[in-house]
Amino acid sequence: MSSHSSRTDPRFQDAAPDVRLRRWTDVDLALLHAINTPEMTEYLVAAETGAQLAHRHERYLRGWDVGMPRMFAVVDAAGRSLGSIGWWESSWESGECYELGWSVLPEAQGRGVATRAVALVLSDIAACGDGRDVMACPSVDNEASNALCRTAGFSLATTLEEEFRGERLTLNVWVLPRS
Ligand SMILES: CC(C)(COP(=O)(O)OP(=O)(O)OC[C@H]1O[C@@H](n2cnc3c(N)ncnc32)[C@H](O)[C@@H]1OP(=O)(O)O)[C@@H](O)C(=O)NCCC(=O)NCCS
Repeated sequence: MSSHSSRTDPRFQDAAPDVRLRRWTDVDLALLHAINTPEMTEYLVAAETGAQLAHRHERYLRGWDVGMPRMFAVVDAAGRSLGSIGWWESSWESGECYELGWSVLPEAQGRGVATRAVALVLSDIAACGDGRDVMACPSVDNEASNALCRTAGFSLATTLEEEFRGERLTLNVWVLPRS
């Protein structure tokens, strides 16, 4: 998780950035590398290799042709990258759902960027999805992501153990029921 010292970055001393979502494009491979540091992947067990990131990037690009995943760069008004967010088809015991994933760069954290990005991506799901439940599964130790789910109106459904990147993770399952 980000240290609070990263918030002294002069680019982010002003009011909270004006957050927008932009469709994932070729330039975002650099963003994928920037969100793949040990600090950023602390709750995801391990960072990915360059080859894995290249594969993920291709999947994100292709998603816009085939429908899923629907990945966005989170940017400010000047188009500077702040992070990533997206959604894809998944399943939960109640049936088919959409799952959300997000990251905000350390220097932009703690300013409400993720909160706004989640609101925007939920609007995208409302516009482009088929009305199924939305799920997010942060590690039980990921305080910021769990707070994000709570604030966005998700309900904590359960906690489960899952194999992820070769390790056992304890995850909270947050669900936003279909409206
Ligand atoms: C999780 C993450 C996206 C939050 O981004 P952010 O822009 O800093 O979040 P916000 O400023 O919108 O804050 C969201 C909530 O988290 C809380 N929060 C932010 N940073 C926190 C921290 N370091 N520790 C505890 N809570 C924190 C905020 O107070 C806020 O809580 P509230 O809704 O109760 O007010 C960011 O920390 C991140 O990218 N972390 C690394 C990657 C990651 O964990 N991805 C998610 C995997 S499930």
